[in-house]
Amino acid sequence: MPDTDSPAILFVCLGNICRSPLAEAALCFEAQARGVSLAVDSAGTGDWHVGGPPDPRAQAIARMHGIEIGHYRARQVERSDFARFSHIVALDHDNLGNLRRLRPVASRAQLSLLLDHVPGRAGEPVADPYFGGPEGFAATWSDVTAGARGLLDALASSRR
Ligand code: 4NP
Repeated sequence: MPDTDSPAILFVCLGNICRSPLAEAALCFEAQARGVSLAVDSAGTGDWHVGGPPDPRAQAIARMHGIEIGHYRARQVERSDFARFSHIVALDHDNLGNLRRLRPVASRAQLSLLLDHVPGRAGEPVADPYFGGPEGFAATWSDVTAGARGLLDALASSRR
């Protein structure tokens, strides 16, 4: 949260059923492996899937890496998120643009793209796997894992 020492990270994609829940799962997993305490959540800019579980293909790729996300439920970004989270991390440019428009002027949340946190990949989007095959979800997992590790490295160095 912005007024405490512990960062709170919100990942945002379009539907909150593919990329951002996988980013949430990857960051929780990587943070736990490093013994880092963080608040982590995800949301979508769209409302089509609100209340629903992650896409079965997202659940499958997470399960292949030993992580269960079937209990996650999609929600839409809300204005209060800009006060609750210290870092709001978009999965692509469209969602980053929408977050910039939604952001209340007083918000101190830091907005970024996930791959901005990966050396050499700043400005790259995480491709939307929704309309493709399962191989797209493997690429998403690889990207969100790299992003989660880079984000943890950045958070660690900003606290030194
Ligand atoms: P996500 O993927 O933004 O990574 O969750 C999508 C999920 C659903 C849709 C688009 C993208 N949709 O059009 O319903």
